[in-house]
Amino acid sequence: MTNSWLGLDGKVAAVTGAGSGIGRAVAEALAEQGVQVVMLDRSVESLNDAAQSVTALGPEPTVLACDVSDPASVANAAHEAGAVDILVNCAGISRPGGIADVSIDDWSSVLDVNMNGYFYTSQAFGKSMLERGHGSVVHVASISGRNAQGNSGSYSVGKAGVLMLSQQLALEWGARGVRSNTVSPGLVRTPLTEAYYNVGDVAQRRDKAVPIGRVARPEDIAQVVLFLASDRSGYVTGADIVTDGGFATTLMSSVPRPGYDEK
Ligand SMILES: NC(=O)c1ccc[n+]([C@@H]2O[C@H](COP(=O)([O-])OP(=O)(O)OC[C@H]3O[C@@H](n4cnc5c(N)ncnc54)[C@H](O)[C@@H]3O)[C@@H](O)[C@H]2O)c1
Repeated sequence: MTNSWLGLDGKVAAVTGAGSGIGRAVAEALAEQGVQVVMLDRSVESLNDAAQSVTALGPEPTVLACDVSDPASVANAAHEAGAVDILVNCAGISRPGGIADVSIDDWSSVLDVNMNGYFYTSQAFGKSMLERGHGSVVHVASISGRNAQGNSGSYSVGKAGVLMLSQQLALEWGARGVRSNTVSPGLVRTPLTEAYYNVGDVAQRRDKAVPIGRVARPEDIAQVVLFLASDRSGYVTGADIVTDGGFATTLMSSVPRPGYDEK
């Protein structure tokens, strides 16, 4: 279904991590709006699977195998893709480990994908936007970029880096017609996090922890990406839209306060 309010029909968008989870939902939502999607992922198998559902919803996508942590692979994909109007950075990984003992390899590999990868793609795909004086870059960050997520190696550090990368891009490229914004999800049930939800009552406890009463579906995040990708957000740049069902506002509820308990 094309939503003319967004006015995305006929645009071209590159989406990283498009084979799974949030990236896949973004690719599907963009296709539904008539966008020609260039789907990038390092997993060819999941790309091909996701491309089938994208094809069913809109213009046939272009599928490109790409490792966003490898600048040469990204440069090649940007060359293959040609000019794009929109870039959505979504490819991400996570590795467990506290600062005291996380391996240097795990620390670096998360930053290579989740932060450096976002820079490589912004530079490579941003080129055609800058040349044409128009474009929108949307980075999927995380509320963990502002709230330390323990025992997750460099995950929070990388997301904090993405928040600042986006602001720096907004500052440098604003007058050249290219906007940059972040979407910060809270808890989203995707293949990345699915293993947690299959343990005991974790799924119910996570739902309960969110003011809206449920963890997010990938589509919840994709809808916000659509807005930031479209010219409807034309005066929004350097911004972060927290999309967490209110979860990041719950800090005070963890403090015991006798006499003020919920009735
Ligand atoms: N799931 C959550 O709860 C949650 C919350 C906040 C933020 N995020 C962020 O959202 C983004 C998407 O996460 P998801 O939950 O959909 O995960 P996911 O695992 O379902 O999808 C991530 C995709 O990225 C791809 N990918 C990984 N490394 C890559 C690389 N080097 N090059 C190209 N592609 C690569 C994977 O193959 C996969 O298809 C990530 O940046 C993640 O940090 C997720």
